[in-house]
Amino acid sequence: MSYKEQIELDKVPSHVAIIMDGNGRWAKQQGELRTFGHTSGVEAVREALTAAGEIRVKHLTLYAFSTENWNRPMQEVNALMDLLVSTIMNEIDSLQKNKVKLTAIGNIESLPNKCQLELKNGILETAANTGVNLNLALSYSSKWELTNAIKKIALDVQEKKLGVEEINDKLISSYLSTSNLPDPELMIRTSGENRISNFMLWQIAYSELYFTDILWPDFKKEDFYKAILDYQNRERRFGKTSEQ
Ligand code: FPP
Repeated sequence: MSYKEQIELDKVPSHVAIIMDGNGRWAKQQGELRTFGHTSGVEAVREALTAAGEIRVKHLTLYAFSTENWNRPMQEVNALMDLLVSTIMNEIDSLQKNKVKLTAIGNIESLPNKCQLELKNGILETAANTGVNLNLALSYSSKWELTNAIKKIALDVQEKKLGVEEINDKLISSYLSTSNLPDPELMIRTSGENRISNFMLWQIAYSELYFTDILWPDFKKEDFYKAILDYQNRERRFGKTSEQ
């Protein structure tokens, strides 16, 4: 039986987050430039998105560009920004056809203008779609997001819109860029690195973490299903005992 056939469709996570890693190493293995790895990574985005749609995952968040990625050589940063623009432009019809709803989290204002425009256009055009929500994390990091949230909370307290006693887990979540999303039940990281790299630290408090050695451009639908299956075979206790 294939991995997909073994998945219990009534127990599919509603939100899967992916740290797409290994593009650079993949390109190096092929004797190519790092940017070739990123271009090839777009195919893996298609694979993950299609797989998510087929088993009705509601939200798919992809870590496409971190706050720290701005420190990469300018040439690579530019290539990634151009890739984002061209991918949205090239894929918009396919997103529409498959009812994908595009959203984004992160410091969007820090992206080049052409990126912001293309992104906003894609978000607007797909806003009414009811299929998978493809949520791109761009110029995103958890520490950036939490710092912003804390500033906003402090301001609201200062302006007496909020009482200190009202600050709780739920309220903090509502100040994050993911306020409209459920927390991911599953987080996947490719390329054999076992770390979180400043991604959704608050939101993954109880997420299942799945690490695979596969480099992102090699990631296929079956790999996505394998991760879902692994998730379904785990026991999620949320601090309780098995008997509860
Ligand atoms: C990590 O690999 C990957 C990135 C920083 C960029 C991810 C972007 C894409 C897959 C393509 C664009 C996506 C969209 C949604 C248009 P790495 O460069 O850190 O690889 P390395 O660890 O091997 O160096």
